[in-house]
Amino acid sequence: MSNYHIKHLEEYYQVYRKSIREPENFWEEIAEEHFIWRKKWDKVLEWDFSKPEIKWFQGAQLNITENCLDRHLATRANKTAIIFEPNNPDEPAEHISYLQLYQRVNQFANVLKSKGIKKGDRVCIYVPMIPELAIATLACARIGAVHSVVFAGFSSTALATRINDCDCKLVVTADGSYRGAKTIDLKGIVDEALDSCPGVESVLVVKRIDSEITMKEGRDFWLQPLLDNASTEGEAEVMDAEDPLFILYTSGSTGQPKGMVHTTAGYMVYTAYTFKNVFQYREKDVYWCTADIGWITGHSYIVYGPLANGATTILFEGVPSYPDFGRFWEVIEKHKVNQFYTAPTAIRALAKQGPELVEKYDLSSLKVLGSVGEPINEEAWHWYNDNVGKRKSPIVDTWWQTETGGIMITPIPYVTPTRPTYATLPFIGIQPALMDATGTELKGNQVEGRLCIKFPWPSMARTIWGNHQRYKETYFSAYDGMYFTGDGALRDEVGYYRITGRVDDVIIVSGHNLGTAPIEDAINEHPAVAESAIVGFPHDVKGNALYGYVILKDFGETRDQDNLRKEINQIISEHIGPIAKLDKIQFTTGLPKTRSGKIMRRILRKIAHNDLSTLGDISTLLNPEVVEDITKNRLE
Ligand code: WTA
Repeated sequence: MSNYHIKHLEEYYQVYRKSIREPENFWEEIAEEHFIWRKKWDKVLEWDFSKPEIKWFQGAQLNITENCLDRHLATRANKTAIIFEPNNPDEPAEHISYLQLYQRVNQFANVLKSKGIKKGDRVCIYVPMIPELAIATLACARIGAVHSVVFAGFSSTALATRINDCDCKLVVTADGSYRGAKTIDLKGIVDEALDSCPGVESVLVVKRIDSEITMKEGRDFWLQPLLDNASTEGEAEVMDAEDPLFILYTSGSTGQPKGMVHTTAGYMVYTAYTFKNVFQYREKDVYWCTADIGWITGHSYIVYGPLANGATTILFEGVPSYPDFGRFWEVIEKHKVNQFYTAPTAIRALAKQGPELVEKYDLSSLKVLGSVGEPINEEAWHWYNDNVGKRKSPIVDTWWQTETGGIMITPIPYVTPTRPTYATLPFIGIQPALMDATGTELKGNQVEGRLCIKFPWPSMARTIWGNHQRYKETYFSAYDGMYFTGDGALRDEVGYYRITGRVDDVIIVSGHNLGTAPIEDAINEHPAVAESAIVGFPHDVKGNALYGYVILKDFGETRDQDNLRKEINQIISEHIGPIAKLDKIQFTTGLPKTRSGKIMRRILRKIAHNDLSTLGDISTLLNPEVVEDITKNRLE
């Protein structure tokens, strides 16, 4: 029997050791006993980080949706797979059983086929958090199309870049979306994006807000009539273990987002196994992850991980503040949620509201609380523990990334003793390493360095779409033979890990990864801007906020500065999305640069943090005089 469900600490250590000593045997047993395959693998693992090339379960054939849907029909046909909780609390929640989900996925898959979508084609899904988002995702997987879900808060420019990067043939969207008291014109955004996407042949439109939109003849189709005429049965495409399942974009240090490619078998095995253990999911539990399916957290832990375990997973359309800041707690009470997984930025925003709203609701169903997306500060951890978990639900602080596909460092609840701000121990099969500046591994405990992973795990991304070289350079070139995460971390005296934050040009704002380069590129599009640089600074709700230093062209200096600030943020909204707007914009005459012309972000960061005492030696700069000028005019 494999160790699919870990129940105590001794067992964790024993299983962990086994997973490291005999990784192939370990994962083979898990794969064999807990999933259905059309054909078993010839080889469990083949890897070479220098190329890099990683193959899990080579030779195997399967369809992930048969694991998420078909196999549950015998025992769970009437069990709720998805609970849809709408934005408006007065609109009834929808319970979608496994049988209904199976049928709706088949219908959607048949519609995709009727529009000419075949195995290997890319489909862009730009849909708000409504059931069709999960259904479209699974429908792609059903027919072997590669889904590229784009978070429906991204702008038309960001959407167009992502559609073109992987040549999507079809886009799924909605007429609009609800967001608290507001509606968003999604179809309008898609129309704008498609002006620069010649490869898109069809657009399927879900009716959600019943708004007036324009439909382009021959290109745009309302989804519902097509679904109504489609069969509820359909053969799943037989996929090879290493066939791509999806592409998901993440920010990098250059303007072009990275389309991380995840493949089928390893991703399925690892997300399912982590879901079961990290949330200690049991058959009758109701699980809720508040992320959007547009991010990796939603892919792995709203859709695939839960459904592969036959779980009941909540899909929430709304926001934590609507109709008031008690909404999360109301939903937990209403659906008797057992596992609740959210982000530190949400916790901080809710903590600001005081305990009254939490106390109004019965949260006694909760057994496990989760946190993801950025380091959780001590204060937020305690607030979550005291007020939401009532000190009886362990908090799993889960560290992982879009690139890792699944949770990597985390406590296992009721197994690993937790500790505020610590992601604690590596999950089964994960071999972290901390590296110093010279590229030497820091052995033993009480060390701090850059976080790498030494050995492949099943759900790691295999490449960047269309740019394997960039994949190699970004993740496998900093340290020989290791996957470099981009994060810093420390290992304490008992071997617990604490993630200290990004060490590259990515800034995490409200849990969203933002690359500095794409934002700077957007700002530089403004006709009055000559150059710009972005850094993060601490923010009590968002974790980090953005501080921009902007050099204006000569004529720009005569313009009204507040207007310029608005215009700059408007451009950022258009190019990336409102999440990337700057909190502070300082106009300056220069940026500190090294003699080779590189912007010294370290200095700009310190000024933004108001940490002026330790600017360090600036005499080697090309233009040390600008530092004084910037410091003098810094914005509070
Ligand atoms: C950060 C989200 C500290 C980290 C699943 C990582 C965290 C980046 C944690 C990936 C955590 C995520 N503690 N930092 N528990 N979880 N991060 O790709 O910097 O959106 O590299 O994946 O978020 O963000 P991504």
